Amino acid sequence: MRILITGGAGFMGANMIPYLLRTYKDIEIVNFDALTYAGNLESLAGVADDPRYRFVKGDIADARQVDAVMKGVDLVINYAAETHVDRSIIDARAFIETNVNGVYNLLEAVRQQGTPRFVHISTDEVFGAVLEGESDEESKFEPRSPYAASKAAGDHLCHAYAVTYGVPVIVTHSVNYYGPYQFPEKLIPLFTMNLLEGKKVPVYGDGLQVREWIFTEDHCRAIDLIVQKGLVGEVYNIGTGYRVPNLEITKKLIALTGRDDSAIEYVADRPGHDRRYALNSTKLRTQLGWEPQMSFDEGLGLTVEWYKAHRTWVDRCRTGEYKDYYQKQYGERLKTV
Ligand code: DAU
Repeated sequence: MRILITGGAGFMGANMIPYLLRTYKDIEIVNFDALTYAGNLESLAGVADDPRYRFVKGDIADARQVDAVMKGVDLVINYAAETHVDRSIIDARAFIETNVNGVYNLLEAVRQQGTPRFVHISTDEVFGAVLEGESDEESKFEPRSPYAASKAAGDHLCHAYAVTYGVPVIVTHSVNYYGPYQFPEKLIPLFTMNLLEGKKVPVYGDGLQVREWIFTEDHCRAIDLIVQKGLVGEVYNIGTGYRVPNLEITKKLIALTGRDDSAIEYVADRPGHDRRYALNSTKLRTQLGWEPQMSFDEGLGLTVEWYKAHRTWVDRCRTGEYKDYYQKQYGERLKTV
């Protein structure tokens, strides 16, 4: 089976590719990634020499490249996305290019080439702030940031292509994902690194915004199950029910890094900041039999240890120096469609 992983050099993809290669023998993985600021082939150094794995540099926003890389593919998992809310507030253009036009290109290629299965990774942010209760798969989309609006547009296209053309697409909505290899701009890796480096951590507003959290490996297992048993045309929420205010996570990170509360710096709130997300993931649990296995405290501890041990990876991400790293390590294998 040939699997096309788009955005495979990003955080989620770089966890999923090794997971698939160690779980299944008889697969071939093509990692198609534009290597933007958030894509880092160094995260995949452990599988780079696996004969079942191949990297192709390219952009889902380029229809010609997407058509070419889709040839002979049995399954697409679309992780390629612009994901950082703060960046979308500064400039949303890349979000529209990748999260809307890119998804359109993938759907068209899947439709025209008859690709058997397409799993599109999306987010709980499409449902907007949920002050009480939970969002289920039927909840109304009320995106409130340019990022969330671009993801909602991509999800609408998936739905439209399933209904209109019978394209075999499954959409997932995931909660906040954390673990090794996350670019150090998101809450957990940013705060971890700042604390380890003796800096302050910028808590937006009062820090009482609530997010729901899932560890990398639990998410990989959920996607795997959805690929195996999910029904085409369906939507699945992927959540753990573990919901916690940002300030509580900040305090856990302070304890794990041996700092104290003087490291907290309350800064101006994010414009339009969603107060709370909460996903109902009963469908995934009852219909497909998924359950999270990692407790938040254990996962957070593992994550902090990983960042402590991978300072060079973080430094290279920050400076963009890993671009030289992949040229040196992967130069011959860097192919563009
Ligand atoms: O909910 C799923 C989403 O989770 C994904 O779809 C997004 O791609 C991903 O970026 C993430 O969005 P968030 O905005 O929730 O993640 P972020 O790590 O940026 O922020 C988490 C919370 O922490 C949020 O309430 C904002 C707050 N925060 C974040 C940063 C970076 C701070 O207070 N200070 C910060 O410096």
